[in-house]
Amino acid sequence: MDVHEALYTTRMMRRVHPDPIPLDAQARILDAAIRAPNGGNTQRWHFLAVDDQGTKNELAAIYRRCRAQEYADIAAGKLAKPVHDPEAHAETMRRIKTSGDYFTEHFTEIPLLVFVFAIDDHGGANIYPAIWSALLAAHAEGVGGTITTVLRYEAERVMKLLEVPTEEGWDMTAMLALGYPRGRWGVAANRRPVHEVSSRNRWGQDFGVTVASPLWPGEPSR
Ligand SMILES: Cc1cc2nc3c(=O)[nH]c(=O)nc-3n(C[C@H](O)[C@H](O)[C@H](O)COP(=O)(O)O)c2cc1C
Repeated sequence: MDVHEALYTTRMMRRVHPDPIPLDAQARILDAAIRAPNGGNTQRWHFLAVDDQGTKNELAAIYRRCRAQEYADIAAGKLAKPVHDPEAHAETMRRIKTSGDYFTEHFTEIPLLVFVFAIDDHGGANIYPAIWSALLAAHAEGVGGTITTVLRYEAERVMKLLEVPTEEGWDMTAMLALGYPRGRWGVAANRRPVHEVSSRNRWGQDFGVTVASPLWPGEPSR
């Protein structure tokens, strides 16, 4: 897959088939992920793959509770506050909620959950390059993924269930939900354009180029 296609069209795929992801594909996804940059090349990361049905069932119940808590926090204005255009943001949140509801309802059918753990992840900086590489590599395999952080509300419970050696300093960064998508990939067009989110030499000064539409001209190949 062309690198630009991967960058432009790798979206969160919350609706996936239950078909298992072969182990060799899982290996290629994580083998790509661990090539990612990380501070000092300390590689203080661990990827825990969960495909055991009983464990997924237990996690589904936790996920449901955590998500309810997250939506309560959003309703209380504590989370996901828009910086720009509240109306457009409300529409985005409505769409995320619809696909998130589907995800929650079908959690137990997701074939593969990959929990990502780190020690001292520098506010995520040390681990998100690997997470994003995993999702790009998954896309190249035809596998869709979703980053979720909502389990942080019950991180202790999740880490106990997964027997994470927290005494060594491991902390849960995210859970990636992976599976073969039911829908098609599309360009992430719902982004504010480059010239609105960039400037030159001083904050707020014109960046110098107007980008009216996504510069990758292709159609998603899958
Ligand atoms: C740090 C981080 C945490 C996220 N947490 C969640 C989550 O808990 N649940 C979820 O459904 N999506 C989650 N997402 C995905 C975003 O909602 C998604 O990237 C955004 O809505 C844009 O959609 P798109 O990537 O499909 O274009 C997360 C993304 C990031 C980078």
